[in-house]
Amino acid sequence: MTMNSLKTSPFLKACRREKTSFTPVWFMRQAGRYMKEYRAIRDKVSFLDLCKNPDLCAEVAVTAQEKIGADAAILFSDLLLILEPFGFGLEYTSGDGPVITGKIESRADVDRLPEMEPDGSLQYVSDAVRKTRASLKPAIPLIGFSGLPFTLAAYILEGKSSRIFSKAKHFMTFQPAAWHSLMEKISRAVIRYVNGQIKAGADAIQLFDSWVGCLSSEEYREYVLPHSRAVISGIQKGVPVIHFGTGTGSFLKTFREAGGDVISVDHRIALDQAWEQAGYDVAIQGNLDPLALCGPAAQLRSRVKKILDQAGGRPGHIFNLGHGIVPQTPVDNVIRSIDLVHELSAR
Ligand code: CP3
Repeated sequence: MTMNSLKTSPFLKACRREKTSFTPVWFMRQAGRYMKEYRAIRDKVSFLDLCKNPDLCAEVAVTAQEKIGADAAILFSDLLLILEPFGFGLEYTSGDGPVITGKIESRADVDRLPEMEPDGSLQYVSDAVRKTRASLKPAIPLIGFSGLPFTLAAYILEGKSSRIFSKAKHFMTFQPAAWHSLMEKISRAVIRYVNGQIKAGADAIQLFDSWVGCLSSEEYREYVLPHSRAVISGIQKGVPVIHFGTGTGSFLKTFREAGGDVISVDHRIALDQAWEQAGYDVAIQGNLDPLALCGPAAQLRSRVKKILDQAGGRPGHIFNLGHGIVPQTPVDNVIRSIDLVHELSAR
């Protein structure tokens, strides 16, 4: 197959809001613990060692794409790896999720953080992109990814996952200059990191701002938007950018102002409303509730159909979940839902 079949793949066409003969679909966390092939690898290596082994990363990403028949593959990696070259400790504990060590409490702490050169210390990520691209079917696009500055800063300040992000909010409101300086430092690193993935062969980029839903529209605009915009505009032109957030239903217009060719929304908002708010001049990605994949078959079918109906056949819809696949999901339901999207959207 030629370069051409990749450029005209349904996923990349949908990113550009071009007509496709069916709605392309892929799922966040499509390579993960719900899949026995993944668990077999994880029985032998820790999560961090897996992320740092480009051959295994490629194997996991390609196996998942082929097994479920997704229209794109996502790089196997993690959002938080970029924190290590900044000097933070990173540990994945089973049950409690990731733990980040290294305190940031003042402007001086921010100033002490190194200017990051991800090309050097995150070489294993570029290697994983290269190996994954080489072993994927030529017409299947590879999505590279990074966290956006807010979600990365929130992990740095909280030290772990959180529901209310009190430390991050405290820091941004009481030390706004230090906050903006931290966000700028992270932004510069993310731009280099993402452009490195593109150079290594990523065909599209998804930027995760998983936790922005804890902010109001005003907070988003003041503390986050300029930095997300700087990152998005620093990414090499011509490569589609998917801008992902959860809980953004109340401020999608503002969220969209930061940029992105595709806006990815979660399941707390109806897709038709989300697209109307984001604007029809961007593509939309979403938004099946990940738990629908654990429910009864008849319900899964009707929920898939409802989302496709809400998209109304308009070019530029990429079917996905509102958030990632959960570990207890039956793999057959994932395969069935992808078949359903293809079958019900055929035009
Ligand atoms: O298939 C894929 O989507 C690609 C791989 C991928 C992982 N993490 C693998 C992973 C991607 C794109 C991510 C992104 C990521 N990582 C995000 C953004 C997406 C989101 O969920 O909002 C975030 C916030 C993280 C940070 C992270 N990594 C958390 C909070 C956790 C623990 C929670 C959990 O699900 O266990 C991880 C670990 C992680 N990242 C796993 C996988 C497959 C599970 C690790 C294991 O095998 O034990």
